[in-house]
Order: sequence, then C-alpha cells, then structure tokens
Amino acid sequence: MRRVAVLGSTGSIGRNTLDVIASHPDELQLIGIAARSRVDLLAQQLAQFAPAVVSVWEEEKARELSRLTGRSQILVGPEGLMALATDPRVDVVVVATSGHDALIPLIRAIQAGKRIALASKELLVMAGELIMRLVKEHGTSLVPIDSEHAALFQCLQGVDPSHIERLVITGSGGALWMKTPAALQTVTRDEVLAHPKWQMGRKITVDSATLMNKGLEVIEARWLFGVPLERIRIVIHPEAAIHALIELVDGTIMAQMSPCDMRLPIQYALSFPTRWANALPRLSLTQMKSLRFFEPDLTRFPCLRLALQAARAGGSACVVLNGANDVAVHAYLDDQIAFLDIPTIIEETLEQHTPAASLTLDEVLSVDAWARRTAQERILQWSTR
Ligand SMILES: NC(=O)c1ccc[n+]([C@@H]2O[C@H](COP(=O)([O-])OP(=O)(O)OC[C@H]3O[C@@H](n4cnc5c(N)ncnc54)[C@H](OP(=O)(O)O)[C@@H]3O)[C@@H](O)[C@H]2O)c1
Repeated sequence: MRRVAVLGSTGSIGRNTLDVIASHPDELQLIGIAARSRVDLLAQQLAQFAPAVVSVWEEEKARELSRLTGRSQILVGPEGLMALATDPRVDVVVVATSGHDALIPLIRAIQAGKRIALASKELLVMAGELIMRLVKEHGTSLVPIDSEHAALFQCLQGVDPSHIERLVITGSGGALWMKTPAALQTVTRDEVLAHPKWQMGRKITVDSATLMNKGLEVIEARWLFGVPLERIRIVIHPEAAIHALIELVDGTIMAQMSPCDMRLPIQYALSFPTRWANALPRLSLTQMKSLRFFEPDLTRFPCLRLALQAARAGGSACVVLNGANDVAVHAYLDDQIAFLDIPTIIEETLEQHTPAASLTLDEVLSVDAWARRTAQERILQWSTR
C-alpha cells in the first residue's frame, strides 16, 4: 500500500490523481490533500476520501472549509503545504500545483526522503539542477507525470545512457498550430483555450497555444534525464498518439504511445517500477489514419524561441523565463494584455537580466521575485497608457 499526498488536488492533474487512487484501493491510500481556494471541491474530496490531512492557502478559505465540513483541523499557507509534503504517514507526494508556491515544500519532501510524482514542470524549470541533486543526495526517486516525460522515462528504462543519441519530445501543436501569422493577431480567448487533445488547467493550455509549454518541457527533460540541450528535439505531432521517442546510437527509435489521458502517466508515476491493470481507454492502432511530424515554427511561436534561448543561456535565465511567462499568461487571462503581448513581456524581461549559473534556493527565489516584479511593472505601464 502506498500512502499518497496530493498538492493541488482540485486541479486537472489533482482530480485525475484522485480518480486513479479511487480505482486502486488495494494499492493506494490518500493521506492528505491541498489546494489554494476551491473549498467546495475540497469539501467533496474530503467527503469521498476522508484523508487525514487537508491544507488551504489562506486563513479565510480554511474558515470557509471548516464551516462547510465541520472539520476543525485544517492546515494553512506555506507551512500547511510543507507539513503535508513531509508528513511521516506519507510515502509519495504528488506535486500538481500551478505557480511556484510548492517549490520549497517539494524540496522539503525530497529532503524527508519522500518519493515524488511531479506534474509541476515550472518547478524543474526554476530549480531543476538543485532538485535533481537533492533527489540523488537523499536516495529517493522523482517520477515525472508530464506525459512527454513519463513517455521518455518509460522508453529509457533499462537503456544504457551511453546508447542515447537524442530525446524527442512531441507536441500536438496546441490550439493555434494551423493559424497564419495574420490569424494569430486576432485570435480569441476561446480559440486559445480550445486545446485539440488535452483537457488541462488554463495556464498550461495557454502555454500550449504559445508553444511555451514545449520550451518548458525541453528544460524539464534536460534536468530529469541529464541529457544536454543539443540532444533534445521537439517535433510537432498533431495526432498526439506518440508522446515521446528516444533515438539510440545504432539508429533505433523507441516510442511510447497511449491515449491522451493523464490518468495513465499519473498511475505509472504511482505504480513505478511495477504496472497495474486498469479500465482506461485503449489506443486503437487500426483506427489511426496517419502519424504526422513537423518541425516547430519559431517565427509564428516566439515563446518557444525565447524558451530555447533561455535554456541555452542557463540557470537564472530559465527562472526569469518562467516567472515572466507566468505573470504574462495570467495578465492575458485577466484581459490586461493581448495574446501576442505574452512573448513581448517575456522578451523585455529577459533582456534586462544577466544570466548566472548554478543558483542556490535563495537565489532562485530572488531572481523569480525580480522577474515577476519586472514583468508586472511592464504590464502596468501598458495598461495605464
Ligand atoms: N493538466 C494537465 O494535463 C497537465 C499536464 C502536464 C503537466 N501539468 C502541470 O501540472 C501542474 C498543474 O496543472 P493543472 O492543469 O492541474 O492546473 P490547474 O487545473 O490550474 O490546478 C492547479 C492546482 O494547484 C492548486 N494550487 C495553486 N496554488 C496553490 C497553493 N499555493 N497551495 C495549494 N494548492 C495550490 C490549485 O488550487 P485551487 O483549485 O484551489 O485554485 C489547483 O488544485 C502545472 O504545473 C502544469 O504545467 C499539467
């Protein structure tokens, strides 16, 4: 029996994780859940799973949850998230929060020897070098949930690192892959949020439309698998049947295929190194009409160009990229800027920064705060023009 804590239980990944837990009562037990503010959903999850621990981000939300459920013991804020991530009853911590609030709880969970199932790619983009070093030092494991990285992780099992020529991350192309540059100027929010293949939270859906998501994934893969950037490739694959491939030195290519259902990589992250049977949808090979692959377009999708530039520049540039992108995407979702302003905000923030390598946790947090402040100031200048 694996005892699980889910940070971000009310989100898209969090809800899918609880579904996996409900489908495997003999293998998994939910010990605790945490969310920011959706207390109505948290109350339902408490009623269904009766976990021992629950945490919310703000005092007011804790009072609301207490009124709804009659619970008196509710953890709050960063301390609450940290206490859940390091709770002695927990074996596996699923990190599925949006934003950067779970960075320190993730680090403390690793230091406490917890096994990690990681969805929150932004945390690896910010502090991948540090996180992977701690995983090694504390002799624990970190299994990715992100579908492309789960695919790479599976393809790489049993493969000698010296036999790897290249990692290939696929992407469906997001909602706007077929749009012309002129059409991108007038794209609506509904079009941006209409991902053709995956049902996800709003921030990652915008990142998929700008292709920033693929850039973040390259940085994520670099730290997870210790493969240099020049040997990680992106291809656009609109059918999204193959989630990643590895190319070996003898010319062999191994690919991972599965339906677009996040419960599969979540289940694998929780079951690894074994596999459990399930009743999830299957991929039908005979119903697949074609498998197409394209080079990504860095001109129509400048966010991807910026992400690859930041990845090459190293350490702190990735922190700035991530912080500025997070602020810009939320400003877009809040109607403060237009879709094509997102890369401009990121680029202008990156231009004001001098990259440094190998950051400490304090340095990561300080660069992240600077990037968010700088991007926010730029947005405010625009909105008050
Ligand atoms: N969705 C996918 O299919 C997918 C695939 C690959 C990777 N990912 C990654 O997984 C992460 C989550 O994505 P998502 O799509 O599930 O996002 P989402 O639907 O927006 O959910 C985010 C979750 O994080 C919680 N949260 C945010 N700040 C928090 C805080 N300070 N303390 C506790 N909980 C907090 C939210 O709580 P409230 O609901 O209360 O606000 C919610 O439960 C992202 O890093 C994303 O890139 C997602």
